[in-house]
Amino acid sequence: MTEDEQKAAAAAAAVEYIKDGMVVGLGTGSTASKMVDLVGERVKEGLDIIAVPTSEATKQQAEALGINVVGFDDVQVIDLTIDGTDEVDPQMRLIKGGGGAHLREKIVASLSDQMIVIAERKKMVEHLGAFKLPVEVIPFSAHALLPKLEALGCIPSIRQKDGQPFYTDENNLVIDCAFERIDDPEELAQTLSLMPGVVEHGLFIDNADIVLIGTDDGIKKFER
Ligand code: A5P
Repeated sequence: MTEDEQKAAAAAAAVEYIKDGMVVGLGTGSTASKMVDLVGERVKEGLDIIAVPTSEATKQQAEALGINVVGFDDVQVIDLTIDGTDEVDPQMRLIKGGGGAHLREKIVASLSDQMIVIAERKKMVEHLGAFKLPVEVIPFSAHALLPKLEALGCIPSIRQKDGQPFYTDENNLVIDCAFERIDDPEELAQTLSLMPGVVEHGLFIDNADIVLIGTDDGIKKFER
């Protein structure tokens, strides 16, 4: 199975959890995009749901597929959110934000009754941190935060795209923090959350309820 096929298999398994009448959070990224396509197919077949997207890109994709998309203001509770990840460890802790959407993703996940994470096999890691941890920051604070983040034991760099600083949907910057290995994700998450200028970091400590991994031996399911 290619990585793309593993992502598609995980996406298909996750879409099975969506039922009529649900409010569904739609994640962001290449894996989530496959899931949104499948949701679009099911909506065409008559599935009746309301969707809350986690990025402008997902919003546009969902709308183009005819999915009924609403904003946060229009819903009280999200029944189920399905999203990708950059890393997942054995405790179902995640690093997200490779696409820079982790702020909205975390808000949507935290408002959801259930979060299903979908990914290909290589996203499963023993220790978080090989993937650079994305930290979304207020642009005003970005340069001042670099030495503070470095003091936490990483090499921080302001994310660039096409030779220019990358701006999130919320018009913030992202500092990617190369830790190599994060020994205490909970402690790091707390420290980052308390730093003035940090809007949100990509550590998702207790958000994932179910993890579905596409592998050559079928879907591997992990449950909290
Ligand atoms: C978006 O900001 C991220 O959190 C994505 O969910 C994550 O990067 C996974 O993306 P892929 O499915 O493209 O690997």
